[in-house]
This record gives sequence, C-alpha cells and structure tokens, in this order.
Amino acid sequence: MAISLRNLSVDYSLQQGTAHALRGVSLEIQEGEMLGLVGESGSGKSTVALALMGLLANNAQVTSGTATIEGKNFDLTKRNATAALRGRGMAMIFQDPMLSLNPVFTIGAQLCEVLRRRAPGSDRKTRVEMAQDALAKVKLSNPARRMNQYPHELSGGMRQRVVIAMALLSEPALLIADEPTTALDVTVEAQIMREIIGLRDRIGCAVLLITHSLGLVTEYCDAISVLYAGEKLESGTVEEVQRQPGHPYTRMLFDCEVPIDRQRHADASENRFTVIAGELPDPRLRPPGCIFNSRCDVSFEDCTTINPSDYPVRNDAGHSARCLRLRTP
Ligand SMILES: Nc1ncnc2c1ncn2[C@@H]1O[C@H](COP(=O)(O)OP(=O)(O)O)[C@@H](O)[C@H]1O
Ligand SMILES: [Mg+2]
Repeated sequence: MAISLRNLSVDYSLQQGTAHALRGVSLEIQEGEMLGLVGESGSGKSTVALALMGLLANNAQVTSGTATIEGKNFDLTKRNATAALRGRGMAMIFQDPMLSLNPVFTIGAQLCEVLRRRAPGSDRKTRVEMAQDALAKVKLSNPARRMNQYPHELSGGMRQRVVIAMALLSEPALLIADEPTTALDVTVEAQIMREIIGLRDRIGCAVLLITHSLGLVTEYCDAISVLYAGEKLESGTVEEVQRQPGHPYTRMLFDCEVPIDRQRHADASENRFTVIAGELPDPRLRPPGCIFNSRCDVSFEDCTTINPSDYPVRNDAGHSARCLRLRTP
C-alpha cells in the first residue's frame, strides 16, 4: 500500500513575522520502497517528518496538507491528526536516539512496552523473548545483557540499533528516518543503514529517509525528492534523476557531491551542500518567479516572474521537476 502526502504547507510564527517553512509539498512512497528526501539544512526536511508524526513545535501551523497511510486519509491541518498512528502505523528514527528512548527505563522495559501496546494479549515471557529477538535481529551484541541495561550504558550506534529494534517491533507501515546516521561514524553509518534496509525488507514498510547526503540516497534509496527552501523542486527514481536531472539545482547537487568515501567532518552537522554559491531565500518573504532563480546558472527572464509548476522530465511519468526550461511551448 502506498503512502502519500499531498500539498503540505507549514508556517512557523516568529516575532519578526511568519516563516513559510513548506509550500505545497507532495510525496509518494510505494510499499517496501525507500524515498530519499534531500535538501540543504533549513530547507524543511524535518518539518515534513514532524508534520506527518504530529510532533510539530507549538508555533507551527499546518495551513494545508493531507496524508494517506494504511488506506486511511488524514487532514494534517487538524492538530494530532495522525496521533493514532504514532508508534504503530508510523515510527520515527531521529538523529539523536535519546529522543526516542527514556533514560530511566531499561532497554528491555522499553521494548516490552512497545509490544504491550502492539500485542496487548501477549504474556510477559513472550514479550521478553520477542524483544530479545529484535535486538538480535538488529545485530546488537549480547542481547540478553542489553535488555537489563539503560540507554546511557550504550554507544550512539548501539542506541540507534535499539531504536530500530523498537520500530521493528511496532511494525509500522511508514518508517521515517531523519538524519539517522548524521551523528555517527562513517563505519557505523553503513551498519545502521543496513539495519534500516533489513527492517524494511522484514516488514515491507515504506521508508522516508531524510538526509543531506546524496551519497546515502544514491546508495540506498529507490526514489528521491529534492527540497529547496520549502518547495519540492524535483522527484523521480534515483536512477532517472541521477542520469538526467530535470532541475539545475539537482544537477548542481550531483555535481558537487563529495564521493561516498569522503572524510567525515569533525562537525557532524556540517552542511555539504553549501558548495553551491548563495543562500536559501528568507522563509518569510518568497520572491516572485522560481524560488531557485537567484542561485541558478541557467535562469532567463521568465524565471524572475513566473512560478513554475511541476513538469514531466523526458515524458517519464514518475519524474518531474519545477523548472520553466521544461515547459512545452
Ligand atoms: N520551531 C520553529 N520555529 C521557527 N522556525 C522554525 C522552527 N523549526 C524550524 N524552523 C524553520 O523552518 C525552516 C525549516 O526547518 P527544518 O524543517 O528544521 O529544516 P531541515 O530539517 O531541512 O534542516 C528553517 O528555516 C527553520 O529555521
Ligand atoms: Mg532537519
């Protein structure tokens, strides 16, 4: 069953005005598919995840947006629209695993709690066995001992595995992973990505992988959506988009991407996209025309006045980009 998000717009109210963090963003993810959502930091990636999960900050307002998950429709403009799906229909892996773990309970207690909600009829012994089995599945060493440990006794990579085990037990239809490996070493990154793929294959869920690393997307994802200043500029299969980017921004991203075996910067949150000259436009004030116009190397007169819609790229049904150069006369 496909997951879809349609026309999501989110504002944040600030003292200095209203920031339009997302404008009309739509995404579709097939069952068992991993969609990579990429964009510079500040482009609105986490806002997409939080809006779906119903975890937006208090100063946020969803001004439009609907989602279809497990065949049910949700009006995201309503507070807590998807609350019933949290931890069941949907699970989320954050950059910081401690956002998903409770420091005062053992790993075992937290995994068993997921099961108690998921399978209320099960007895304690079965739940303990299932929890331990989930830890083994995500290749955490010595699962029996981990059950009695507290989150602070584990490394960052091990904690992220525990969070993946929790997702495994909750069997979501949609797993959202927001920069799940950004805080980890490159070697641990590959292991964690493998566990996410393993989870996807085991339960056949759709995965939304949020990242600022194109390398991760090309290596692990089936499809890609490119976000820029709150707008989706391109989407399609990774193969198609990489072969022939429809948007100049996507082309620039692929041109400047550091190879996958890059040296990880000491500052893990370092933004690898800033190689493209210029900055994201002020989210309070959208300029007329194409949102990328000021940084584009092939813009022409119309780009300053006409806001492009999504045009198909090479008549490929699943591949579209928001660029006037794709207009058919
Ligand atoms: N609680 C908030 N209040 C005000 N602005 C916010 C808040 N959260 C995020 N933003 C703004 O919304 C935009 C998108 O942020 P975010 O979704 O976190 O982007 P990303 O995850 O791509 O880095 C940014 O301009 C950011 O500063
Ligand atoms: Mg983010």
